[in-house]
Amino acid sequence: MGSPGFLSSIFVIQTMKKHILTTSYSEYASDAELPGNDLELLKTARNAAKNAYAPYSKFQVGAALKLENGIVVIGNNQENAAYPSGLCAERVAIFSAGANYPDYAVDAIAVCCVTENNSGKPFSPCGACRQVLGEYENRGGKPMRIILGGMKGPIFIINSVKDLLPLAFEGEQLKK
Ligand code: THU
Repeated sequence: MGSPGFLSSIFVIQTMKKHILTTSYSEYASDAELPGNDLELLKTARNAAKNAYAPYSKFQVGAALKLENGIVVIGNNQENAAYPSGLCAERVAIFSAGANYPDYAVDAIAVCCVTENNSGKPFSPCGACRQVLGEYENRGGKPMRIILGGMKGPIFIINSVKDLLPLAFEGEQLKK
């Protein structure tokens, strides 16, 4: 009694709100269940993974994205002896698309990694890649489908980067 903290806890009107963010994705048991276009893109990502330059982590990742004009751009992770100088497969692919085809939105991106045991969960993009994919989704003005898989086994499909990175930091927030 008598402390300012005690008084304010009596008189402050509580305005705290709780926001619940929901996300969803679809899971397909195997290649056979996938729609044809998605399977084709995933196979391209699998091939790209084989050419990854990952001598340090030995974790090879491939990405293949399809632009709205039908062009497919690939990427794979590129590592470096100075570790932070390397780059993930998704960003290699999407920056290449941005450099070569700046006027076309990305309709879908497939990402996959090479592992010895492919029975588990599909590979999932790191936070920095989610941030970059989100920027390009906004830039393109339409949702980007994300297809996540291994060399075989289950495949996850996410309908928008917004489902992978809720409450993202976006360019809008830089405007004063
Ligand atoms: N990597 C990717 O290519 N994509 C991701 O989303 C996460 C990680 C790469 C970076 C590095 O070459 C290796 O996987 C191990 O982290």
